Amino acid sequence: MCSKRPNTPEFWRDYASSALGDGSRSPAFSGEIWDRAARDYDDLEACHDYMRQVECVLASLRECGAVAPGQTVLDIACGTGAYALRIAPFCRSVTAIDISGAMLQRLEEKRRRLGISNIQSVATDWRDYTPEDRFDLVFVSLTPLLRSLDEIDRMLDASRRFFAIVSWAGVKKNVLHEEIAREVLGSAPERHRVDVMIPFNYLYARGYAPDLRFFHGCWERTRPWQRQAENLLWQMEMRRPLTDAEKGAVLEAVRTRAVDGMITVRTRVRTAFLLVDKEAGKGPC
Ligand SMILES: C[S@@+](CC[C@H](N)C(=O)[O-])C[C@H]1O[C@@H](n2cnc3c(N)ncnc32)[C@H](O)[C@@H]1O
Repeated sequence: MCSKRPNTPEFWRDYASSALGDGSRSPAFSGEIWDRAARDYDDLEACHDYMRQVECVLASLRECGAVAPGQTVLDIACGTGAYALRIAPFCRSVTAIDISGAMLQRLEEKRRRLGISNIQSVATDWRDYTPEDRFDLVFVSLTPLLRSLDEIDRMLDASRRFFAIVSWAGVKKNVLHEEIAREVLGSAPERHRVDVMIPFNYLYARGYAPDLRFFHGCWERTRPWQRQAENLLWQMEMRRPLTDAEKGAVLEAVRTRAVDGMITVRTRVRTAFLLVDKEAGKGPC
C-alpha cells in the first residue's frame, strides 16, 4: 500500500505511474497515427452535444478573462483547431501546436477560409517544444499528453495565469466499437486511460483550486461504412497493430451492419473542463 498521503503531489505521481504506466512509446504519440484521423476529425462538429461543450468552454474562458483582447494563448495538441479558431477572434494571438501535419493542414485551410490572421501554427511534438515566452492562457484538450504529470507541470509552467484542460471523465462508451472488438479481437477496448481525475487531484495537491465542469453527451456520427471501418481500424491500431485477417474481419463486421451503405455510430461520453487561475486566492485578506 502507498505510504504517501493523497493530499501530496507525490501520491498522485505514484498513482499515475501505476495506473497509466509509461506510455511514452504508445502509437497515440505518433504524428502518423493522427494524420490518419485528420480527414474525418471535423465530423465531430456536426454533433450537437460536442458543439455544446465547445461553446460552453469558450464562454467560460471569456467570462473569467482567460480569453480577452490583449491575451496570448497557447493551444497544445490543437488538432484541426476546434478551439483555436474560436478563441482567436477574441484575443491577441493563438499559438497552435500539434504533432500531426495533416491536422494542422486542416486548421490552416479553415483559418484561411475564415480570414483569421492571429493564429500561428507550429508542427511539433509538445515534448520537444520550449516556448520563448509564457502565455496568458495555456489550453489543452483531449490529448494523450494528459496522461503525463511531467507534461502537465510543463504546461502549467508555460502559463502566466490560466491553465485549462478538456479531458475525458470516466465515460466513453461506443457500443459498435465494443461489439466488433469483442467479435474480432476477443476483448472489449480498454478503458480510456486519460481521465480528468488524475490532473484534478494532482493540481489540487499542488495547492491549486481548479474549477471543474462536466459535460454529458452522445456524440453521433453517420458515415459511409467504409469510412466508419477506417475509423474503427484506426482506434484499434492505437492499441496494437492488427493482422490482415483482423483488418478484413473488422471491415466485414462494419459492412454487414450498414444500412444503405451508411452507418451511425453513437458514443456516450462524459468530459470535463478544468480551469486553474494561478492568481485565485492571492487578493488581500
Ligand atoms: C483527439 S485530438 C484533439 C484535438 C484538439 N485538441 C481538439 O480537442 O479538438 C488529439 C490531438 O493530440 C495531438 N497530439 C498527440 N500527441 C502529441 C504530442 N506529443 N505533441 C503535440 N500534439 C500531439 C494529435 O496529433 C491530435 O491532433
